[in-house]
Amino acid sequence: MKSAELFNTNKSVLQELNHPLFTKHCTRIFVKRDDLIDARVSGNKWRKLRYNLLQMEALGKSGVLTFGGAYSNHLIAVASAASKLGVKSVGIVRGDELTAESNDNLKNCQELGMELLFISRLEYGNRNDPEYLSTLKAAYHDLYLVPEGGANFYGMVGCQEIVKEINIAFDAIFVSQGTATTSCGIASVLDRAELYVVPALKGFESINEMAKVYEYAAFTSEYIDELKSRITVLSNYHFGGYGKYTIDLLEFIRSIYQSTGLRLDPIYTGKAFFALYDQIKNGIFDDRTVVFVHTGGLAGIKGIEEKSGFKIFN
Ligand SMILES: Cc1ncc(COP(=O)(O)O)c(C=O)c1O
Repeated sequence: MKSAELFNTNKSVLQELNHPLFTKHCTRIFVKRDDLIDARVSGNKWRKLRYNLLQMEALGKSGVLTFGGAYSNHLIAVASAASKLGVKSVGIVRGDELTAESNDNLKNCQELGMELLFISRLEYGNRNDPEYLSTLKAAYHDLYLVPEGGANFYGMVGCQEIVKEINIAFDAIFVSQGTATTSCGIASVLDRAELYVVPALKGFESINEMAKVYEYAAFTSEYIDELKSRITVLSNYHFGGYGKYTIDLLEFIRSIYQSTGLRLDPIYTGKAFFALYDQIKNGIFDDRTVVFVHTGGLAGIKGIEEKSGFKIFN
């Protein structure tokens, strides 16, 4: 399979969500269902890999080399995409105490043919260091390097397509933020709508991080300033920080599932949807239309249910 065939996004429909709160506030909510694109290469992972894999093919490389944590959505997405394309994948994993048997995510990566290299947390800290990367590139010269989380120019360009596929007029768009690649892609092609970003990390410098992505993409400082003026950062919905969640959040996710059928995850999309719900409650979106981007992330839900002892989806 060629990557152009693999990256079919027809399944990402725009779904209107009905809920008594939305009706009360005359707010129309549409969800861009990127979570439906593929079970494993889900949500924004798909978007961020698309142009990276096309680039891999264009450069005649025989596979992908990338980075991720033990529960990384990105790692399993790369393993799955590489397996579908019939190319090699190598995943450099944070933590030399781990093995492929440490959890289902790593096990699945290995079963999909990904070669896993476990390195110390200290060494992993060099993952974006140019010197470290050039040594790695020399050692794996036949592989195409994708940064952690698919966070590069090609990743951002892939995320622009989320907006291009939305065929209704809308006032605002909500998205969860990790590396800021997805939100940067979205902001750069918005016409008049405002972008609301919800960082999953505590203390994440959203605007600075977005500016860095744009600088790397060689956008002018005037254009970056213009983009920044259209972005609202909702930084108080991290629930303790990256990977952290509370029972309140899990209960919220369950109630949204029960009332609408939409599945969210507690690491990214659940926090972003909680923020949206809160803003609606506060009347911020009365008589307005909002698009929520479902960026996926549901692959790890079973592990979270086991760990927390809380059954989110019945
Ligand atoms: C499910 C999910 N949603 C949102 C994000 C955040 O996206 P980004 O890192 O592009 O800001 C991630 C991380 O990549 C993710 O896995």
